[in-house]
Amino acid sequence: MVLVTGGTGLVGSHLILRLVLSNVKVRALYRTQEKLRHVKQVFSYYHDDPESIFDQVDWIQGDILDLPSLENAFLGMEQVYHAAALISFDPRDFKKLLKINVEGTANVVNLCIHHKIRKLCYVSTIGTIGRSVPGKHATENNDWNELNTNVYALTKYSAEMEVWRGSQENLDVVIVNPGVIIGPGFWENGSGKLFAMVNKGYSYYPPGGTGFVSVTDVVSILTRLMKASIKNERFILVAENLSYKEIMTSISHILGRKPPKKELKKWQLEIGRFFDFLKTLITGKPRTLTKNSVYSLLHPETYNNEKVKRALNISFEPLEASIAFTSKKFMEDCLYPQ
Ligand SMILES: NC(=O)c1ccc[n+]([C@@H]2O[C@H](COP(=O)([O-])OP(=O)(O)OC[C@H]3O[C@@H](n4cnc5c(N)ncnc54)[C@H](OP(=O)(O)O)[C@@H]3O)[C@@H](O)[C@H]2O)c1
Repeated sequence: MVLVTGGTGLVGSHLILRLVLSNVKVRALYRTQEKLRHVKQVFSYYHDDPESIFDQVDWIQGDILDLPSLENAFLGMEQVYHAAALISFDPRDFKKLLKINVEGTANVVNLCIHHKIRKLCYVSTIGTIGRSVPGKHATENNDWNELNTNVYALTKYSAEMEVWRGSQENLDVVIVNPGVIIGPGFWENGSGKLFAMVNKGYSYYPPGGTGFVSVTDVVSILTRLMKASIKNERFILVAENLSYKEIMTSISHILGRKPPKKELKKWQLEIGRFFDFLKTLITGKPRTLTKNSVYSLLHPETYNNEKVKRALNISFEPLEASIAFTSKKFMEDCLYPQ
């Protein structure tokens, strides 16, 4: 039996669906009933009988920061996918990020060692891959440092260190470093927000760009890596390197909105950052534009995906298909709900 942490998130819910459809016995960690209802919605995008998929999962309530509940979840497990994390780029969340991403991962690693788990697959991020130099895509071997990074990547990097510590204590591990993950159902977070933003028809786009990958590719690769004899390696998961203009234009075509035409200038982003800071001061709402996010929006990063393609003999699905499917679900959920 396998344990999935973060089972109610974008990656976790898609991973569970894939595992159940491949007849793998799954136990999944959840925190609240409300999020479980959302998982059924995700299953319904792909399956006529989402309830039957849902009922095949051994759902267990727990928190990666609550050792007794986590200990319970580990009983009888052979393999663990660790996808639970807090994704926030707001510097005010640094302590929470440290707690969930670093201490939470340390707890998962410690229990994997204690329960002699056969393999741990950890979902990290491209934020922990060292920056590319002009003319060259970044690889898994690029040196990473703390300059111009964000609080989220800092804690994911420390979490990776916890996973490598596990590998030193005889735990077999693989780490994946996905780019921005495209997939449906989570419209208020991550790439989901991009669909909502393009739908508003903004005419501006930031000059940078980054690596993107579909959620179906991410979960397919996770399960293949779990099955393979590969261990103690990390893999960049990026299907395509796209500029923000390119991805926003693709989404706008499918949503039937005007594509963005004007490039945002540095000074405009800096003004935006100032007003974002004021908004946070007045309303207490999370920061959306920080110094580091402005840096990322201005500087394109590109990633080399050869290592995982060679290791598993695979190719990535064209991103267009995933953008089209996700846009369709966005329209059904948010624009024309039944
Ligand atoms: N989305 C992306 O574009 C992207 C890109 C690169 C890497 N990643 C990585 O991929 C993994 C999955 O991301 P995602 O997009 O699926 O994120 P998500 O949709 O925000 O889901 C996060 C999951 O973690 C769970 N979680 C958070 N804190 C927890 C805690 N203390 N105990 C137990 N569970 C907890 C959440 O539970 P609740 O539902 O109860 O909140 C949720 O199930 C993360 O490790 C993330 O860093 C994501």
